[in-house]
Amino acid sequence: MSMIAHKCKDHTVTVVDINQTRIDAWNSDKLPVFEPGLNDIVQGARGKNLFFSTDINSAIREAEMIFLSVNTPTKTYGVGAGRAADLRYIEKCARKIAEVAEDDKIVVEKSTLPVRTAQSVKRILDSNSKGRKFQILSNPEFLAEGTAVKDLEAPDRVLIGGAQTTEGKAAIQKLVDIYATWVTRDRILTTNIWSSELSKLVANAFLAQRISSINSVSALCEATEADIDEVAHAIGTDSRIGPKFLKASVGFGGSCFQKDIFNLVYLCEHFGLPEVAAYWNSVIEMNDYQKQRFSRRVISSMFDTVSDKKIAVLGFAFKKDTNDTRESAAIYICQDLIEELANIAIYDPKVEIAQIQKDLGISTDNKLVSYCESAYEASKDAHAILILTEWDEFRALDFKKIYDEMHQPAFLFDGRNLLDLEALREIGFEASGVGKG
Ligand code: UDX
Repeated sequence: MSMIAHKCKDHTVTVVDINQTRIDAWNSDKLPVFEPGLNDIVQGARGKNLFFSTDINSAIREAEMIFLSVNTPTKTYGVGAGRAADLRYIEKCARKIAEVAEDDKIVVEKSTLPVRTAQSVKRILDSNSKGRKFQILSNPEFLAEGTAVKDLEAPDRVLIGGAQTTEGKAAIQKLVDIYATWVTRDRILTTNIWSSELSKLVANAFLAQRISSINSVSALCEATEADIDEVAHAIGTDSRIGPKFLKASVGFGGSCFQKDIFNLVYLCEHFGLPEVAAYWNSVIEMNDYQKQRFSRRVISSMFDTVSDKKIAVLGFAFKKDTNDTRESAAIYICQDLIEELANIAIYDPKVEIAQIQKDLGISTDNKLVSYCESAYEASKDAHAILILTEWDEFRALDFKKIYDEMHQPAFLFDGRNLLDLEALREIGFEASGVGKG
């Protein structure tokens, strides 16, 4: 929404939320999310044509177009628990709009939703319409965290789905006109509403599938003398395969991949397609295997015990350049090591201590976990270093200095294939990466 305000000076964008603390943060100098470049964009538009408020009713009444951007977590209760999307927030929003709106509205689904959700939103709105007309559009977001501003400035494509009626097409055109302010028309795709909703789930499933595929091969590389980066390069230069999203890792995380695949799997089962469901579910299974495999490798390399040993964990975010930890592989690896009674010293340049404690489900006085101000502090007197997020600053560390202050043998497990293993071995480290024999 900030990018729309930044690009379309003649439109007024009001972001509303019931959470006062969150809105206050958006109105302050310290935004509630860390995202490179976002601060400048918000500061530039805020108070001019970008507003953050908790006055939801006024914002609904005044808007011509309303974007629903609420979270749709995996359901934790009842039917479909652990797999289906929890749509209660979407439904509450739809009911709120129906209650408050005084004239016609275009309602845009921005949240990632199961296919045919637009129909439910439309039914709620239409059954309370009192003469007002509602058009529902689907406009899924493809930005990735850490590169959000760049992705929004120059998207590969913008996708807009809507009803293929005269009114539906007119609503689509209104949203096309907004994006066309800065995105060339050939990159703005319009489809029917179901195709748009499904495309978002399928895009994420395909991306995650590539990572699970390369990670599955990384296990084979470790058993042979093949090197996963060499294999990825060799296959990625085939233009039909392409080089992106072939980086083997400790496992993918983030708020989208797992949730959206679960959602896809649930939909397939719902529509009587168990083989299709099993196929996509295996992408998640491979990711779980990759995380477990990494923990097991750490423990077995360190003479089958990590109990009482200090282990430095460098990076806790699910990827670099974000403070987001949702589904981060680091959570699972740390939990495995805590279970083995290791002392873990965590350093991440952006993630707050309280967030780490919440993710690990530990109290503030847990004796096994400590939080450090630098990679050097975390590594001092450690038996092993684990690189779990690919922060650029880890490349520039003085590993000779780190090595000299560690217990010997000094292990280093690079879960992101970020570092030069040969150089580390020359210093004396017992260094290993993912998918490197
Ligand atoms: C993803 C999609 O990319 C984006 O289009 C969608 O809108 C939301 O979900 P995001 O989760 O922010 O975005 O990050 P992404 O860059 O896709 O990375 C997801 C995870 O995969 C991270 O944990 C990352 O480290 C991992 N990853 C990515 C790999 O392990 N290897 C790769 O080659 C690429």
